Amino acid sequence: MSFTRRRLVPPTLFRQLFEKDSSTYTYVLADVSHPEKRALLIDPVDKTVDRDVALIRELGLKLIYAMNTHAHADHATGTGLLKSKVPGVLSVISKASNATADLFVEPGDKIYIGDIFLEVRPTPGHTCGCVTYVTGEGPEQPQPRMAFTGDALLIRGCGRTDFQGGSSSQLYQSVHSQIFTLPKETFIYPAHDYKGFSVSTVEEEMKYNPRLTKDEEAFKSIMENLNLAYPKMIDVAVPANMVCGLQDPVAKST
Ligand SMILES: [Fe+2]
Repeated sequence: MSFTRRRLVPPTLFRQLFEKDSSTYTYVLADVSHPEKRALLIDPVDKTVDRDVALIRELGLKLIYAMNTHAHADHATGTGLLKSKVPGVLSVISKASNATADLFVEPGDKIYIGDIFLEVRPTPGHTCGCVTYVTGEGPEQPQPRMAFTGDALLIRGCGRTDFQGGSSSQLYQSVHSQIFTLPKETFIYPAHDYKGFSVSTVEEEMKYNPRLTKDEEAFKSIMENLNLAYPKMIDVAVPANMVCGLQDPVAKST
């Protein structure tokens, strides 16, 4: 007697890592069924690159992509350092960010590591080049799906919209059209958390996000009246992140 067994959940490896100074989450995703155990990193931070490289070595993964959801203003990306420490790694960012990277992604693109892929959804508003990376749809992809939302959607919050080409109206439209249309059980994994949360779902944020449950006008009013301080790292982090986290020595010393 012979039969075939349908593979419902692919052997996915997933890790959520934290950088405490900027409260940034870095994510590892790998297809451990692939002979090379192909992996990617989302939003690595320069200060924690050695930790990330050590973990990847311990787990026997082959790092293919070091990706950013956007050009961050609060920390320097680890993508440039990763490229120097792990030969062959490709840095990835959206074309709309106007930053430097090896690969530029656009809405609808798919990024494969083995059989697993991430699709690129445009979620501008926090910056003009923000994207959300979402695991693929279908029985061969991780279930439930996972959305890496960067600063577009935080757990019970969202990124500010007053710098880097930000627009509260655009952010509202992005979240409602590109994230809240995903299956309600989709996990939300943001780039930051300042309250101790680690994961949410589309359903939870649609019900309880104190900003994005409002109508667009109320949302815009909230965003315009946050009275946030000037981001303390922005003048260093953004120029660095526009060149993959590595500024040339002359630019750095000025
Ligand atoms: Fe940001």
